[in-house]
Amino acid sequence: MESSNPPKIVCFMCNWTFCEEEMRFPYNVNVIRVMCVGRMDPALVLETFANGAEGVLLVGCKSPDCHFVDGNLHAERAVKMLKKLLALVGLEPERLKLLLVSPLEDRSFSHYAKGFSEEVWKLGNSPLSKEEIVANLAAAKEAASAFRLRVLLGREEELTEFMNAYGEKIPEAEFDALLDDIVRAEFIRYKIHYSTRLKPRSVKELAQILGVKPSAVLRHITNMRRKGMIALDHVEGYTPFYKALEVR
Ligand code: FES
Repeated sequence: MESSNPPKIVCFMCNWTFCEEEMRFPYNVNVIRVMCVGRMDPALVLETFANGAEGVLLVGCKSPDCHFVDGNLHAERAVKMLKKLLALVGLEPERLKLLLVSPLEDRSFSHYAKGFSEEVWKLGNSPLSKEEIVANLAAAKEAASAFRLRVLLGREEELTEFMNAYGEKIPEAEFDALLDDIVRAEFIRYKIHYSTRLKPRSVKELAQILGVKPSAVLRHITNMRRKGMIALDHVEGYTPFYKALEVR
C-alpha cells in the first residue's frame, strides 16, 4: 500500500557529478557526497536501509568519465549483488538504484531524485516487521562483507571477459547463476549465525525461521562448524542446539 508521506531517500553521490547549481532536490532526499561510487562499501548501503532509508540512490559517472577509471563498473557489480541480497532480505530490489550520468547531462539532479522518490513511494512501506528487517539486514551486511562474495565480485571481469588457462570464458548468465547461489548461501549462513547469536537453536527452529528444509540447515551448520562459526551448545533429549561463535 502506498504510504501517505514521501519515502526517506538517501543518495550517495560521486563528487564529480552534478555541480552545486544543479543540486536542488526534494526535502525527503538526503545527499551524501563520496569520492567515487565504486569506492563505497556495499555493507554501507545495507546499513543505510537498516537505519531507516526506504530507498537508496547511488549516483556516479558514466564511462569513461570515472576519475578512478572503473569505479562505475565496480558499482554496477556491487549493485547487482546488493539487489540479490535485498530480495533475500524481503525488500524490493527496486529500492536501490544506480544512476550513471555524464558531465554533459542536460537534466538536473532534482529531475532524477523526484523520479526515484516516486518509484519508491509506489512500493509503499516495507512488508516486513521491524525485527525481521533488522535481523535480515544484519545477515545481509555480513554476507556482503564475506570473503567469498568479495573475491567473486572482484573477479567478475576476469572470469567473464578473458579466457582462462583452458581457453574458456564463463558466460555472463553462468556467472550470474553462480553469484545467485553464493549470495543465497552466504545470506542463509549469516542468518543462522545471527539467529544463534541471540540464543541456542535447533535445526528445526532454524529451518522455520529461514523457510528452508532442515537438511539444508544441517548442511550449512556442518560447514559453519568446520569454519569455527558455530558450535554445539547442549542437547535436549535427542535434539542438539547450536550457538554462534564470534567470527574474526
Ligand atoms: Fe565518479 Fe568514479 S569518480 S564514479
